[in-house]
Amino acid sequence: MKDANSPHAAHEHQRDSFGSSFGVLVALAGSAVGLGNLWRFPYLVGENGGAAFILIYLGFVLLVGVPIMMSEFIIGRRSQANARGAFKKLAPGSLWYVSGTLAVLCCLLILSFYSVVGGWGIEYLFKAFRFDFTRAGDSAGLSTLFSDFASSTWRPLVCHTVFLLLSGLIVILGVKNGIEKFSKVMMPVLFLIIIVIAIRSLTLPGAGAGIDYLFHPDWSKVTANTYLAALGQAFFSLSLGSGMVITYGSYVSKKENITAISAKTAAADTLFALIAGCAIMPAVFAFGISPGEGPGLVFITLPHIFSQLPLGGFIAILFFVALLLAALTSSISLLEVIAAFCIEEFKMKRFWAVMLTLFVLWVLGCLCSLSQGVLADWKIFGRNFFDLFDFLSANVLMLLGGLVAVVFVGWKLGRTVIHDELTNSGALKIPVWLLDTLLFLIRFLAPAAIAVIAIFQWV
Ligand code: PHE
Repeated sequence: MKDANSPHAAHEHQRDSFGSSFGVLVALAGSAVGLGNLWRFPYLVGENGGAAFILIYLGFVLLVGVPIMMSEFIIGRRSQANARGAFKKLAPGSLWYVSGTLAVLCCLLILSFYSVVGGWGIEYLFKAFRFDFTRAGDSAGLSTLFSDFASSTWRPLVCHTVFLLLSGLIVILGVKNGIEKFSKVMMPVLFLIIIVIAIRSLTLPGAGAGIDYLFHPDWSKVTANTYLAALGQAFFSLSLGSGMVITYGSYVSKKENITAISAKTAAADTLFALIAGCAIMPAVFAFGISPGEGPGLVFITLPHIFSQLPLGGFIAILFFVALLLAALTSSISLLEVIAAFCIEEFKMKRFWAVMLTLFVLWVLGCLCSLSQGVLADWKIFGRNFFDLFDFLSANVLMLLGGLVAVVFVGWKLGRTVIHDELTNSGALKIPVWLLDTLLFLIRFLAPAAIAVIAIFQWV
């Protein structure tokens, strides 16, 4: 931050930053814990055979996810700049910064469909308050309820707009006063809610089958696709390759321990996904529903379960509050990546940077939302807008961003810089074996894993 040689030195001391270690952790965990944990993880587990998928996922988080997160953290904290500016500062005169520009684009695409699903969360929270799920009756009724809503024109657009405005409001307040304050209150609430739901679910008669499914691996179900889905999920859930860790990392002081924060963030995200699994799977099994329902699990199957559960109306409200909070703490991180880029690269005021971003997101989000209904036939490369944005961001841009980050840190910045950042210039100790292992993961294993998954997906 105080690098006198930096061309941005004068501008830098005005940069916002996180106020405390706990603030950094909850903001990062807030970004990581999101729809990825509550909506994507349970149905992927269901589709990929349960415990075996979870074990492979855990392996990827530890061996690939954490090293990528640490690499992005190093880029952000060392440069104290936004996703594009970071590369420009650390490698002036080179083309590495293109990766930062792509990261901003990636966040724009993710947030376009993320805010639509966040909007669905708002609608479902209302429905939960009105006890609509009990009225809709069986799962066919709930399936119609969902598809009628998602494919209609106006209501999802209004919800999407409200969701974006809520995210914008928090980001306009800034890093310390908006993002950090919001996450500090909401993350503990979120964990509490999901634990309450998990306890309710685990104490249902017949819950044992769900636990079995989550914790006893059936290796016969594992295929090449299981590995691809698990690595993709690790990227999405830990918010990797999107410039998020670079941007949040740039607001972190030189005194924080990068290794510890990265490990804690990954642990919190994984723990939350497992508790969410315990909240959802036992109930799914107790009511004799197939776990492989796909993306509709949260919006169709769960309301069906809630409608039959003792105290179900209350649990439904809690669940959709949790979904909304989880989505919001993630969407503000996506919005911050874009806002920081506009503020620093184009010298815009935070307010206008956020307003401009919201406007672009609103237009892109409208396309995603309408692609569930009136624009269903507008297809590019055989995909509607929603699926195209999802595919381009999660399956292309995030992988690319993660790959560039590890290659940049492992090969361009190198061992000395990594050591310097992980020890805070010698103030912290790091065992040689740990540094060597990390270096191996960053230089070889993570790039190889990303390359393999990319080749499988794209070819
Ligand atoms: N990790 C978030 C989730 O699990 C999604 C996300 C991706 C957030 C990329 C920020 C950046 O929902």
